[in-house]
Amino acid sequence: MDTLDTLQADLLATIAAASDSAALEEVRVSAMGKKGRITALMGDMRNLSPEERKARGAALNAVKTAVESAIEARRAELKTAELAAKLEAERIDVTLPARPESLGRIHPITQTIDEIVAIFADMGFTVAEGPDIETDFHNFTALNIPPEHPARQMHDTFYLPPDADGGARVLRTHTSPVQIRTMLKEKPPIRIIAPGRTYRSDYDQTHTPMFHQVEALVIGEDIHMGHLKGTLLEFCRAFFQIDDLPIRFRPSFFPFTEPSAEIDIGCARKGGEMKLGNFGDWLEIGGSGMVHPKVLENCGIDSTKYQGFAFGMGIERMAMLKYGIPDLRTFFEADLRWLKHYGFVPLDQPNLAQGLTR
Ligand code: DAH
Repeated sequence: MDTLDTLQADLLATIAAASDSAALEEVRVSAMGKKGRITALMGDMRNLSPEERKARGAALNAVKTAVESAIEARRAELKTAELAAKLEAERIDVTLPARPESLGRIHPITQTIDEIVAIFADMGFTVAEGPDIETDFHNFTALNIPPEHPARQMHDTFYLPPDADGGARVLRTHTSPVQIRTMLKEKPPIRIIAPGRTYRSDYDQTHTPMFHQVEALVIGEDIHMGHLKGTLLEFCRAFFQIDDLPIRFRPSFFPFTEPSAEIDIGCARKGGEMKLGNFGDWLEIGGSGMVHPKVLENCGIDSTKYQGFAFGMGIERMAMLKYGIPDLRTFFEADLRWLKHYGFVPLDQPNLAQGLTR
């Protein structure tokens, strides 16, 4: 039979040697389980006289307490060690550089829209949106392009089946209907841009059936063409990051503006290459003008009190010029190699404070 001292020494040694929680639990069961060594000794006390039992009981209880607290202490030790091992195994070095490749790439159109929004937001513009499927009214009529107007032919419109009430529907041919939606909804002063998809039935080297425009609309009581030109100048210089980039207005016609002007920016064309800047040559980037009084009235805005300017630009053209992308059609071919080459790192969100591009 074990003497209690050797039993205690033996158990404490096994406890100390237990290398994990499972081994420790085995020791506990071997001592204090149903068939455990201490349990057995407790059972043996039945045969003792009351006095002997008292002394033996006290001695056994002391062993039991010592073993229990040793198990408890070892359990805490093992827990700490196991946690430390787990933390070590799952360690992450947060100072390692991120792997942006695994996040994919931002498409140049998305990047360009983000940049345009950042610049106009800085000038106090908010972003407005409208649906890709437009009513004939918003896309044409309210913009002073009545049925049979020759401007309708120029738009190569995708016509859709009429809606449930027989109303004519189209895929919007420009972002200008967002002007109408905004003016019908909001009271002046208005200062919005509306970037988005537009559609025309046309496909060649410089046209895709889906493309993007950004519209701008400013309505107030004392808005004039100087504001239009100043806004465009400010925007183009920030976007292309060319401090002395010149802008020129060329007289033009749009049904929804009067007067109307095409927007040209300075460039040089040499040996098939295009360079932006103050070089004497010119390149068109969009249309603009003072909002036609009829358009204001169509939207319930008093044209004797308010006037405003608007412009629209092609986003693909802006992206091609800024990032040297030669072919328009490649934008929509979903070629991963192209996207890897011309795409942008997702973690670099454009903002004016840090500069717009990488
Ligand atoms: N909506 C015209 C187009 O698609 C562009 C345009 C011209 C927009 C003049 C305007 C504007 O807001 O004032 O060709």
